[in-house]
Amino acid sequence: MSAAIIDGKAFAATLRERVALLVPAFEAAAGRKPGLTVVIVGEDPASQVYVRSKGKATEAAGMVSTTHRLPDTTTQDELLALVRQLNADPAVDGILVQLPLPKHLDESEVIATIDPDKDVDGFHVVNAGRLAVGQEGFVPCTPLGCIMLLEDRLGDLSGLNAVVVGRSNIVGKPMAQLLLAKSCTVTIAHSRTKDLPDVCRRADILVAAVGRPEMIKGDWIKPGATVIDVGINRVDNGEGGTKLVGDVDFASAAEVAGAITPVPGGVGPMTIAVLLRNTLVSAYRRENVALGKGAI
Ligand code: GUN
Repeated sequence: MSAAIIDGKAFAATLRERVALLVPAFEAAAGRKPGLTVVIVGEDPASQVYVRSKGKATEAAGMVSTTHRLPDTTTQDELLALVRQLNADPAVDGILVQLPLPKHLDESEVIATIDPDKDVDGFHVVNAGRLAVGQEGFVPCTPLGCIMLLEDRLGDLSGLNAVVVGRSNIVGKPMAQLLLAKSCTVTIAHSRTKDLPDVCRRADILVAAVGRPEMIKGDWIKPGATVIDVGINRVDNGEGGTKLVGDVDFASAAEVAGAITPVPGGVGPMTIAVLLRNTLVSAYRRENVALGKGAI
């Protein structure tokens, strides 16, 4: 293996510490702690685990964590009423409605009801629009975490060829916007892209966010490229159990890439760390407390 390993777990831990260090100054100025409220509907086990981790991390950073656990019989009107109540609550800086929602609920309408200035997930169309035109808003946590890892590794990204494989609203599209804002030459590839391996081979930065286990092979990668693997896929480990793998075939990719994120321990831990960062930023903005540019 020749690639350097990008240690997202360590980077995320440092980011969480930096967030925690900025909480007391906010509290001194505003007379309260930053607050993140998470709403979860139903009993999806994976979502329950994510929500518990978000709550613990929020408290560990010195912020107020509130979780609303609603039964899967909750109606659209009940959920929208809760979101509106949280929009109006001055102690709530961030609102996160855990996805996916049970099938009978309309996710788009729920996200559209969240106050864009409390939308720490960055999923509201207003925040997607702000990102597209370069206005201040909230950027989805996973792609923002990827940019932080890339800048930490490479410094200035301008002029680099970036290929994003995947076009989801949550990762692929905002990732491409962020790379463009950093002056990369950006290609968005997807399931209909012709000659995908050739497209990937042109990338100085390759971001894989397709949700297909180990799809991207080492011979798709330009020697020395920086590879960011957003995939988290649970697969058979061949011994009767399961293991987590990314969208990139790590063993072959690590022979060719200059640097690569592992799965687990790469991009995954960044998501919650950036959520805390977005919540802190929301609190500072909402209370008009100065947060120096580049402070976080
Ligand atoms: N489900 C899985 N990841 C996320 C996330 O980052 N935000 C929300 N709201 N739901 C999710």
